[in-house]
Order: sequence, then structure tokens, then C-alpha cells
Amino acid sequence: MLYLNKTHIHKSVFLLLTLLIFSCKDNKNLNYSKTDYSFKVDSIMSLMTLNEKIGQMTLYSGDWDKTGPVISTNNIKFLKEGSLGAMFNVYSAKKTRELQKIAVEDTRLGIPLLFGYDVVHGFKTIFPINLGHASSWDLKDIQKSARIAATEATSEGLNWTFAPMLDIARDPRWGRVSEGSGEDVFLTSQIAKAYVNGFQGDDLTNNNTLISCAKHFVGYGAALAGRDYNTVNMSQDELRNVYLPPFKAAIDSGVESFMTAFNELNGVPSTGNKFIFREILRDEWDFKGFVVTDYTAINELIPHGFASDEKHATEIAIKAGIDLDMMSGANRIYLEGLVKNGKVDINLVNDACRRILLAKFKLGLFDDPYRYCDEERQKETIYRPDFLDASRKSAAMSCVLLKNQDKTLPLKNNETIALIGPMVKDKENIIGNWAAAGNRKDKAISIYEGIRNYVDESNILYSKGCEISGDYKGGFDEAVNVAKEADKIVLVMGEDYHMSGEAASRTNINIPGVQTELIKALRQAFPRKKIILILMNGRPLDLSEEDDLVDSVLEIWFPGTSGGLGVADVLFGAYNPSGKLPITFPRNIGQVPIYYNIKNTGRPIPVENPKEDYKSNYIDSPNTPLYSFGYGLSYTTFKYSEISLSSSLISPTDSISVSVDITNSGNYDGHEVVQLYIHDKVGSITRPIKELKDFKKVFIKKGETKTVKFKLFSDSFKFFNGEDYVLEAGEFEVAIAGSSNFNFSHSFHLKF
Ligand code: NOJ
Repeated sequence: MLYLNKTHIHKSVFLLLTLLIFSCKDNKNLNYSKTDYSFKVDSIMSLMTLNEKIGQMTLYSGDWDKTGPVISTNNIKFLKEGSLGAMFNVYSAKKTRELQKIAVEDTRLGIPLLFGYDVVHGFKTIFPINLGHASSWDLKDIQKSARIAATEATSEGLNWTFAPMLDIARDPRWGRVSEGSGEDVFLTSQIAKAYVNGFQGDDLTNNNTLISCAKHFVGYGAALAGRDYNTVNMSQDELRNVYLPPFKAAIDSGVESFMTAFNELNGVPSTGNKFIFREILRDEWDFKGFVVTDYTAINELIPHGFASDEKHATEIAIKAGIDLDMMSGANRIYLEGLVKNGKVDINLVNDACRRILLAKFKLGLFDDPYRYCDEERQKETIYRPDFLDASRKSAAMSCVLLKNQDKTLPLKNNETIALIGPMVKDKENIIGNWAAAGNRKDKAISIYEGIRNYVDESNILYSKGCEISGDYKGGFDEAVNVAKEADKIVLVMGEDYHMSGEAASRTNINIPGVQTELIKALRQAFPRKKIILILMNGRPLDLSEEDDLVDSVLEIWFPGTSGGLGVADVLFGAYNPSGKLPITFPRNIGQVPIYYNIKNTGRPIPVENPKEDYKSNYIDSPNTPLYSFGYGLSYTTFKYSEISLSSSLISPTDSISVSVDITNSGNYDGHEVVQLYIHDKVGSITRPIKELKDFKKVFIKKGETKTVKFKLFSDSFKFFNGEDYVLEAGEFEVAIAGSSNFNFSHSFHLKF
């Protein structure tokens, strides 16, 4: 017997109605295109109750992963009631189909769900952590990694990633430096585009593309003292010249969503900040996508001291321009009442709901809600061999060779190597934090296994030596013993993956535990043996002591699933290291925050006499970092010629070409990241002493010389001077170099 209840009848009527509306629209051949969804969105909205609209503005966790405080949300109950528009932290074709089925078949209007997740540097096949991948300066490779991540994630039902993280970070105490692209505006902006293009592809209706999310808007990376979630105060010019541009770059690439930040900005928490969401994001930048809060961020307006209670917080958030509430449940509980008693204009709800529905249309979810839920595709896609190969390549490209005295690296495969340290055989940490659904145990390839790819087991001597943390030194003797027979000692050490990422700020940025003590013990026992330090970590560390103790230092970050293979490729010279630091490494914690893009001050430090009195120097430490932004060695050497400029005088409508000849003067073919910097000498507000304005990664064979040419347009010289974006006449110094550590010797003038 066919039994139709009230819900079924409602839904059938709705479906008939919408079908009718859609087909009439198409048949009439009105000016309707595939991407013009406003008519369809409005048709659905006209059938929705206030509660159903608010339901679309609610996002709950599906509890497969924990990415914030555990909160019981009754998500299935709300899903069935039509009070849930999106879920996160749940994946797999099977599970998402099951949940989507509830949304589509058991709710009155059958509106499909969005499924979000933190697919930050890979979904199952994990790529180097973002700070690591930024060290490759390889935009194509980063974009490819995002494409692969999207392909895997969408095969498991996901259609939205909470990435890229675009917070400029200049304080290595902050654990979340690991998730971003470092300290520089230009580099982060370029990488922002690569991620958005990679995730979203060129057609969101393809079943292997997903919506990306620019986060965290804004200023989160400037958290005071590097303490996570801490207060941020900054001037308008710093906000606009440094922290906003990567987000604008994401918009220019078509990013479909934004996430709020946990911090307050100049006294106003981001989730209640009209200035950044309404004035900048919507009015100035004309952003049409939707805005989601960070985890429980509406509720957090109360401890911030910005809302008196949850109802008040809900009102503040929607008025500030927030569309979707992650985990607070505030919209679901309070918004209806706020609209009914006139505190919140219904149009704000309509706008928010419209933006979320629009995203669902763009993804094609209304055509086929199960388009991402195909178990066969999942099986064929996850950990595809070519994806694993790509992660190996990215791992190699992301290594930064910080020191290589006496050409200690590359290793030769007939050498006997002592592999020592708590991370030699590690498969748990190697994929880093925010590793989504990446398998930490079985799929990851350790450094040990990678090295075995090149060297016979009989040539490897192994001792763990110590743990990552703690003060137990009982393994030191064995490590020293093992090293006796070795030609070279290779140490694999660093931080564990919990030491960076969210809520992982440190007050000391040394290598943890007794690892450095172990290096000292080995150096003491073998004053002349070559020691190579391989470092796995999620932030710049203070390596002053270690740099003096060892011959070579290779920064590998957390290199990902095939990390062991990629790193071994570098160690044995199959890939000549080409990574350059996207963030400065200080000499000591007291120098923090330290970055290349500083102002000169009225009392700059004289190059010839850095210790001169009454200058802006420290009395107990050099001001210079241990390793500069943009720095990284290769197994070969690159010689830069004098630069040549197409002109010494340009007008605002001209461009200027700057070129350099670079010779590979060593014995290996290799890639060089060629960086172009300028210095605006006088401004209506002071300008940084160096600003990266472009870069190119070039491959140069040994003995070969290549000309590298850059073209700069006047847009590159614009800045926000506290009142407006301006282009000012004057002298600009310019240089092309292999790192930010150089002195300018050329300039040109911009004249109106
Ligand atoms: C909190 C983090 O700040 C954010 O980056 C992440 O996307 C959400 N949790 C969801 O997991």
C-alpha cells in the first residue's frame, strides 16, 4: 500500500513546483546561464519557513574527528528536523551518503548538506605541512597538491575544505605558523591563489572540486606574544599592507567562503566585527560567497567581553555579517526569537541563507546530492600511486638545506651511516598536524625506510638515543656506541606534531627534551665525524647551539605521507635541494618577533659597526637572524650578475624590467628561487627596508647561465598610508637575490 504522510506530500509539491519553475525558466529561454542561480535560490527560499532558513545557517560536527572542544550537538535529530545545513568532521562515501539521504529524503524540503573538513595539506595522501610546502616556492606544485587533496576528499563525500589558512605569521611561538605560508605578504598571496585554484578547479560542478575557505579573517597571526587566540591590536596600514592582501588574492581567485578568526582586532572580536566583514569584505571587495564562524566563535563573544549572553552574541554575529554558525548552536537557538521580536531584520537571515544555498547550487548538489558519494570512486582514488609520488616530490622540494659545511651532503650509498634520534623510524609525526584523514601508521614512510631505498641495511646502524620530550638519557651510551662504526652520523630530531598547530604555542623554541644534549654527547665523542641534523618541526626553532655542533642541517618540516622517500631523495642527491625559508629563523627567543620586512627606525644599525651605541641594536645579541627569510642552500652554487634595469625613470603607466644573469657555478644541476625586492626610500608613511615583489623558480644546468627577467608595474609600488591606497613618486631601490640577506645597489625613480 502506498502510504503518503504529510511530509511526503509537502515534498512532492515542492519538487513539482521547483521543477516546474526551473523548466519554465529554461524553456522560455530567458537570459539564464548555468552559473546564474539566483532565480533557483529565490524559488526555494520562497518555500522556506524562517526556521528552515536558520537551519541552513547551522553547522555541526559529525564527530569523526576532534578539531575543537567536544560538544554534544544532537546533530542527527537536528538534521532530521531540517535545522542543519552543513556538517563537518565526517567523511567517506558511505557515511556522507547516509547523512545526505536523511537531508534529502527525511526533511520537508530535501535541501542537501554541505560537508566540510580541514583538508589543509592533503586529505589521505598528505603533503608537507603548509609552512613546509611554502618553502618550495613552487606554486604549480602547491596547486597540484590542492588538486589532489580535493580529488581525494570529494571521493569521500566532502565538498568544502576549511583551507587555505592565510594568516601572515611572524612569531614562531605561535603554533599555527605551521598551517600558513610564513611571514611574507607577496609569497602568501601567491600561494593563496595556488590553493584556491587547486581546490576549486575551474568548474565547481565537477565532482572532484570543492569549495575552499579563506581563513582566519583577520589578523590571527599577530596574536600577542604568540599565544594562541590572544588579543590583536594593529594599525590600519599594517592591516591593509600586510594582513589583508592574501585574503584579497583569494577573492581574486574566486574563493567561495571565508572563516572568522578567534582573535579580537582592535577591541572587536572578529566574529562580531562589522568593519572587517561588512565594510571590507562585502562593501569594498564585493565578496559574494558565505562566511562561516570558527568553532564556537559566536559563543566566545561572551568571554571576549563583547556580548552579555548567547542571545546577544547571536544578534551581534549576524549583524556583523556572519552567515553560518560553526558549533555554537546560537543561530539555531536564538535567531528565530531575535527576528520575531524585531531585533534582527529578516533580510539578514535571507541574505545569509541565500549565500549558503547559492554555494550548494554552484556545487551541483541540487542536481545530484550524492555526486560526491561514490564508493567505487573512493576506492580508486584514495592513495593513488601517482598521488603518493606527488607527495614524495613535494617533500623533496620543501626541504631547506640550512647548513652544509665541507659538502657533507649529499650522502653516498657506499657510506656506513649511523641513523640516530627519536624520529628516525617515526610514522606518527611525519605527516604533521592538521593531517585530515591521513593514516599516521601504515601509509606514512619513515626517514629510515626512505634511506633504505638508497642504502643496504648492512650499511645502516641505528639507535633511537632518546625520546622527543622528557629528560631520560639512558639511550645516549648506545647511540655513541653505534656511531663508532659509522662514516657519517645522521640525526633525525625535532618536535612532535602536537607541538605546533592550534592551541600549541611555546614559550621556548628550542628542540625539545634532551635531543640537543644527545648531539653534544655525539660531538664530544666524535670531534671530527661528520654529523648531519635532519629536523622535523612545525615552526622556526632556535638552532644557534645545534648550528655550531653539526656539519649540515636539513630542515624537512613535517614532510607528509611519502616524506621518507622525498627526504632520502635529497639526502642522496637525486633531488638537489631548492627550498628557501618562508619565515625567519631567529638566533634566540628574545629576538622574536623577527622578520625581514622591518622598518628602518630613526637609528638603524650601521653595517660596519653593528654594536654602535645609541642604535637600535641589542646589547646581548646580534640583531641579525640565524637564517634569513628566502635563504636556503643547494648542492650547487649560483652566481648572480649585476642587475640591469630597462630604465632609471618611469611614470605610473610604465612598467620596468629588471634582469639578472645567473650562472650555475657548481657541480650539480639545480633549481634556484630568484627573488626580487624593492625599497621605497621615502613615503608619506615609512616603508619597510625590503619588500619581496616577485620571484621565479628556475632550473639551471651545471655550467649554464640563464637570464631571469622581471617586469614590475606601478601597482607593485602602491600601499595604504593610513588613509588611502597611494602611489607616490620617488626613488625605489631594487635588487634580485637568492635570499633577503643582501644590500641594495641599484635604484630607479618613479615620476608623475
Ligand atoms: C578551529 C580552527 O581554528 C579552524 O582553523 C578549523 O577550520 C576549525 N576549528 C574546524 O575544525
